Order: sequence, then structure tokens, then C-alpha cells
Amino acid sequence: MNEIQRIPVWSRALRIAHWVMAVAVVVLIATGWRMESEPLPASTLLDDHFLAAAFLIPAILLRIYLLFFGTDTDHISDCEPDGNRLRSAAAVLKYYFSLGRSPLPNWYAHNPLWGPVYLLLFLFLLMQIISGAFQQSHPYLGMVNLHDIHIIGAYVITGFTVVHVVAVFLHDLGGSGSDISAMINGHRIFVLKKPVTTQQSGDTQSVSLDALKRSLKNKKKHSNDGG
Ligand code: HEM
Ligand code: HEM
Repeated sequence: MNEIQRIPVWSRALRIAHWVMAVAVVVLIATGWRMESEPLPASTLLDDHFLAAAFLIPAILLRIYLLFFGTDTDHISDCEPDGNRLRSAAAVLKYYFSLGRSPLPNWYAHNPLWGPVYLLLFLFLLMQIISGAFQQSHPYLGMVNLHDIHIIGAYVITGFTVVHVVAVFLHDLGGSGSDISAMINGHRIFVLKKPVTTQQSGDTQSVSLDALKRSLKNKKKHSNDGG
């Protein structure tokens, strides 16, 4: 019989960073592209753009702090590819290209295909903040036109956002992890195929869940993490 476990995978800090960043980015996309298309840029649009930037900056700084100084799934190592994750990433791609007919593989926290993409996104967001903050006072950084950099960044971030939202919707639909709800309450659902009862503790454990957990390469643990 299958066993269902509900396990905390996303820390509160990561979830706060995610949702503040998500709302700020959506407002920045909307106001940015409207400014681009308005014949005379409305100053209120730029005000709203700066307001959203004021939320994005602390959220991204918090996320970058967690990448380097956080533990468990907050840490950069949870996004890095390794042999196992590359195989799972290939299976996720197969799921997309088969239009959902091929099975979605299991994973623990960050999606194995998307983990490295999130790291790249953080770089683009940093670049967008720097080009946004300085493009009016210093249009050129050496030979580089900061306005051009800002526009390229806007295309990349807008593209990421559209594909990301479609992808997480598909993962929630095709998998059993309740991924979108997990990004809100922190807990993913794991359906364990072969529960094995350990004699010492009487706990129910699963080989497959342990294997997923081992994919957390960061060995640092929260001090209150019992195992
Ligand atoms: C309604 C919109 C959104 C929903 C429902 C959503 C949902 C999710 C979910 C379910 C995950 C976990 C995916 C995984 O397994 O890897 C995730 C991760 C992530 N999302 Fe979103 N997302 C949304 C918008 C955005 C936006 C606009 C951005 C930024 C441009 C964003 C950036 C990220 C990042 C960077 C991660 C990785 C988590 C981390 O390491 O911080 N999301 N999102
Ligand atoms: C997700 C992040 C962002 C996106 C997608 C984005 C997008 C855009 C777009 C499309 C424009 C219109 C450019 C034009 O009129 O030709 C723009 C303009 C601008 N953005 Fe952003 N932006 C982002 C973040 C930021 C941040 C963080 C700041 C400030 C720190 C910023 C500051 C500005 C400024 C000052 C302008 C006006 C430039 C001008 O035409 O004089 N942006 N943005």
C-alpha cells in the first residue's frame, strides 16, 4: 500500500523571498513594457517601477544570502546539477516534449531541470537592478550601454516568468508533490511506493524518499533538525 508523507522542504525565508520577488517582478514587467510603449513616459509608471524595485532588491539580497549562508534546500548546492539530477532533468524534458504522456520523475525540493535556471535568473535580476539603478545617471559603463542591458534583461526575465508559471502549473498537474501549494505552505507531498518498517524506531521509512533526500548535497543541518 502507498504511504503519503507531507514533508517541509521550503524554509519560511525562501518562501517570503520567492513571493515578494514574484510580485515585484510582475509589476516591473508590466510597468517597464508600458513605459517602453508610451510615447511620453508617464512619471507615475516610473514611480511604480521604482516602488516595485524597492521590494525586489531586499528579496533578491535575502535569496542570495540564503544561497551562500543558508542550509538544506536554501543553499546553492540544492540547485546545482549532478549525475542523478541530470538524469531526472532529462526525464522532465521528456515529460514536456511528450505533452505529459511520459511520467514526471520525482524530486525532493528544487526541480532538477530548473535548479540551474534559477541560479541564472538571480544573475539576470542582479544585472537588471544594477542597470536600472544607474542607467539614468551613467548611461554607459565603459563601452556598455546600460539601457540596452536593461532591455535585454527585461526580455530574459519576462520570458523566464511566462515559462516558469506554465512549468510549475504542469508540474502540479502531472506530479503528486502539490508544488504550488508547497511554495505557499512549505510542505511537499511524497507518495512512497514501498514503505519499510524499521525495527528499532517503529518509524515508517522509505528507500525512495531517502534517496531523494540524499540529493541534498549540503550536509549542513539546522541545529533543531532531528535527522
Ligand atoms: C504566480 C506565479 C508563480 C508561481 C505559482 C510560482 C511557483 C513556484 C513553485 C511551485 C516553485 C518551486 C519549483 C521547483 O520545484 O523548482 C517556484 C520556484 C521558484 N520561482 Fe516561482 N512562481 C511564480 C512566479 C515567479 C516569478 C515571477 C519569479 C521571478 C521572476 C519566480 C521565481 C522563482 C524562483 C527563483 C524559484 C526557485 C526557488 C528559490 O530557490 O528561490 N517565480 N515557483
Ligand atoms: C524584473 C525586473 C525589471 C524589468 C523586467 C524591467 C523592465 C524595464 C523596461 C522594459 C523598461 C523600458 C525601457 C524603455 O523605456 O526603453 C524599463 C525602464 C526603466 N527601468 Fe526597469 N525593469 C526591471 C527592473 C528595474 C529595477 C530593479 C530598476 C531600478 C533599480 C529599474 C529602473 C528602470 C528605469 C530608471 C527605467 C527608465 C529608463 C529610461 O527610459 O530612462 N528597472 N525597465
